Amino acid sequence: MTDMATQRFNTFNPADEPGAVASRAPAARSGVVDNAAQPIGVVLEIAGSGSQVALDVQRLNECADDLDPSIALAGQVGSQVKIKTSEGWLLASVRNQRQDRRESGGILANIDFMGEGREEKLTGKIHGFRRGVTRYPIPGALVFPATTEDLRQIYASDGRSAIQVGTVYPTNDIRAGLYVDAMLGKHFALLGSTGTGKSTSVALILHRICESAPQGHVVMIDPHGEYSAAFRNTGVIYDVGNLQMPYWLMNFEEHCEVFVTTSGDDRQEDADILAKCLLKARSKNRLAESLGKITVDSPVPYLLSDLTNMIQDEAGKLDKASSSAPYMRLKTKIDEIKGDPRYQFMFSGMLVGDTMADFIGKIFRMPSNGKPIAIIDVSGVPSDITSTVVAVLSRMVFDFAVWGREEKTRPILLVCEEAHRYVPNEKNADGSSVGRILSRIAKEGRKYGISLGLITQRPSDLAEGVLSQCGTILSMRLNNDRDQAFVKAAMPEGARGFLDSIPALRNRECIICGEGVAIPIRVSFDNLEEAKRPASEDPSFTELWRVSGGEEDRVERTVQRWRAQGK
Ligand SMILES: Nc1ncnc2c1ncn2[C@@H]1O[C@H](COP(=O)(O)OP(=O)(O)OP(=O)(O)O)[C@@H](O)[C@H]1O
Ligand SMILES: [Mg+2]
Repeated sequence: MTDMATQRFNTFNPADEPGAVASRAPAARSGVVDNAAQPIGVVLEIAGSGSQVALDVQRLNECADDLDPSIALAGQVGSQVKIKTSEGWLLASVRNQRQDRRESGGILANIDFMGEGREEKLTGKIHGFRRGVTRYPIPGALVFPATTEDLRQIYASDGRSAIQVGTVYPTNDIRAGLYVDAMLGKHFALLGSTGTGKSTSVALILHRICESAPQGHVVMIDPHGEYSAAFRNTGVIYDVGNLQMPYWLMNFEEHCEVFVTTSGDDRQEDADILAKCLLKARSKNRLAESLGKITVDSPVPYLLSDLTNMIQDEAGKLDKASSSAPYMRLKTKIDEIKGDPRYQFMFSGMLVGDTMADFIGKIFRMPSNGKPIAIIDVSGVPSDITSTVVAVLSRMVFDFAVWGREEKTRPILLVCEEAHRYVPNEKNADGSSVGRILSRIAKEGRKYGISLGLITQRPSDLAEGVLSQCGTILSMRLNNDRDQAFVKAAMPEGARGFLDSIPALRNRECIICGEGVAIPIRVSFDNLEEAKRPASEDPSFTELWRVSGGEEDRVERTVQRWRAQGK
């Protein structure tokens, strides 16, 4: 006897089961068999969040031809099925399939329960769907395909404010929504191998957020200068040409990253000298008098020339036996940076005025003046200080929120592309300040109204713990095993069935789970209009290699720009 036979599965008559008459698209009903009303399998075993079912191959084949795409996929890995209980319906996703060795034509599958809904008496529709399971089915309960109509009920918004980003797989018309407050309230991460559509999806999500919240405050760190094209109209673009980030905003640690070049014992010595002279230089500001006590970290303007003079003076006080080398090292480095045109966006003599409030206002979009996004294009920043620049910006967001608690300042969303560069795991850690501040925002930001959006193609290279601080995870296709394992560990248990499909997702498709959605969903992102896409278009070699003309001029202009270094 097989499992199927013991359950009298084949002799089951849908008329015996009033609940089986689930509603569905009329087009599909014209088929010979009403697939939605016929079971495709039976529950064998129940255990906690998942259980085992037996599926009938013949029924699956019949369903495969159904016009309703949800029914056509029924029983496949990643698809949804529903199970009749005495109260209503349970919804589950199929995690895996394997052959039932004891019976030809039998398939065993593990399923994960996602939630439950009541049955509307007259129509048999699912309604009042909720996450989680209060009453499990008993072995022998029948398994049915979930129809598009069922999914529509299940994925219907529960009334919270949501943005729509795409359609729910496998249907082609059910809209997929993200609950904005829940998603931003507990950070989010968007992951995916290169070329799967991360940047475009982030642009899509941010566009939708801005449409629904035109007075928002979004700061986006853009390491490749891709996003300026996407946010021409809804954002303000800052790059080395117009960022004008005053150097004196750096705290002591960040100063050390830029000015101290040595390591080991020497580094400590240099840092001590820098601390002493920096405090003196800051104290010369009129502001310092009114503030009373200031520290090396206080964002009080000072003159770079004051700093180098202090260092020189200190060196002059040395007795003959001590070496002035550390003093000279510091002074040379500071002078070098001061004179280098590539560093002018930050270390220009013009930036000495007290522009802190203006700088914060413009970067955090307060007021937003209809442009709620600030794109900070750091692609032109010399690579040795990029991470410090990102650290300063992130710390500004954090400190502003901390010091603004009394004022009830508005929440800020900080989006960080290529996050693995800035918050790397232990193996790649360089102990830089940016990793520390972003980890801190991940851990504590929520309390102060900061939301973090991390985007990366290498989740396994992210610092441990950072991913699990993200309440909502949007995972596009990940090709690498290690990355997949990382994401699985950070995702909730109930999403297992979905997780197994991560390596098989198509471009532009994504599994979303966590706070931002009622239950895990597989989404196919909307097509984003060309004008709103980031400039990350893959070049067409065959097209570009067919046309000619203007090469010399182009090379000439490139060389000029290269030499002028953005000036
Ligand atoms: N929703 C979408 N609408 C229109 N085009 C899209 C969409 N998603 C992705 N694309 C296209 O797919 C290509 C790759 O997308 P994108 O640059 O966003 O990928 P990525 O994952 O950010 O890649 P990388 O890792 O290289 O940064 C682009 O040419 C983009 O135009
Ligand atoms: Mg990208």
